[in-house]
Amino acid sequence: MNFGLDGKRILVLGGGLGIGEATVRLIAAEGAHVAVVDRELERAKAVADAVTARGGTAAAFCIDVLDDDALVAGIAQIERDFGPLDGMATVIGMAAWGSLIDIDMATWDADQNRNLRYFFLAAREVARSMMTRRVGGSIVCVGSVNGIRSAPNHGAYGAAKAGLINLVATMATEWSPFGIRVNVVAPGPIVTPRIPHTGEEGERKMMVNVPMHRRGSVEDIAKAIAFFLSDLSPYITGQTLAVDGGSLATNPFIPLADGHVPA
Ligand SMILES: NC(=O)c1ccc[n+]([C@@H]2O[C@H](COP(=O)([O-])OP(=O)(O)OC[C@H]3O[C@@H](n4cnc5c(N)ncnc54)[C@H](O)[C@@H]3O)[C@@H](O)[C@H]2O)c1
Repeated sequence: MNFGLDGKRILVLGGGLGIGEATVRLIAAEGAHVAVVDRELERAKAVADAVTARGGTAAAFCIDVLDDDALVAGIAQIERDFGPLDGMATVIGMAAWGSLIDIDMATWDADQNRNLRYFFLAAREVARSMMTRRVGGSIVCVGSVNGIRSAPNHGAYGAAKAGLINLVATMATEWSPFGIRVNVVAPGPIVTPRIPHTGEEGERKMMVNVPMHRRGSVEDIAKAIAFFLSDLSPYITGQTLAVDGGSLATNPFIPLADGHVPA
């Protein structure tokens, strides 16, 4: 099937590791030309080099997305040096752990900045460029099921991820006349290089509430991001798609079925 990504220039913020890296690999394999941005230039370079070694097109850029001026200037530079963008995926995000009763305001702000604030600024820059060029495009951010359900012990992160859902809906309504689509992919528990090790017992307890009884892979999330970036979703905007093995579909009052096979 043709995803319609061939030759499209896509910016991936946080493309050096985990879900971002998997997204770069997948969309590059589908023909996208990918600008890989990471705060760690070596990571971005390794991912871009792996793409070009396989015959794809990618280039690495170093930007710290928490620096407003660097982010705005960096996007402009990428559009000058790499070419005008058709889409962007923002994958950077992180959670501070601790209860709301104890959290200090610097930690609260850090979670808003690294999950919500940079996305707003980056999306607005890319959208302004698309509007000026009179071309449409697709913007995708990575939220979390913890922005849909409560987020005990990482409430600031949950609030920031919830903010993405509303922000994306507003962007979709304001920017649809310009052909710009904006969507959220909300992962459940995913196997990434950075996940805290919960131990076998902790892992088993967590998976009890996941109907598919496994963590998702970074590729599971990359596929959903590629779907929103591609021509497979031309009439979809303002949406949040949970990619969570069915976790959000469960009923807290009724235990999961244990795989009964009909007679
Ligand atoms: N891992 C999970 O189980 C899970 C679950 C739900 C949601 N998510 C979300 O998925 C996204 C990706 O998670 P991950 O674990 O794959 O990512 P990650 O944190 O492992 O990697 C992201 C990349 O972003 C880069 N980065 C971090 N801060 C940066 C900055 N300020 N400027 C530029 N680059 C920066 C890092 O160097 C890294 O290469 C996050 O938004 C996270 O909230 C993850």
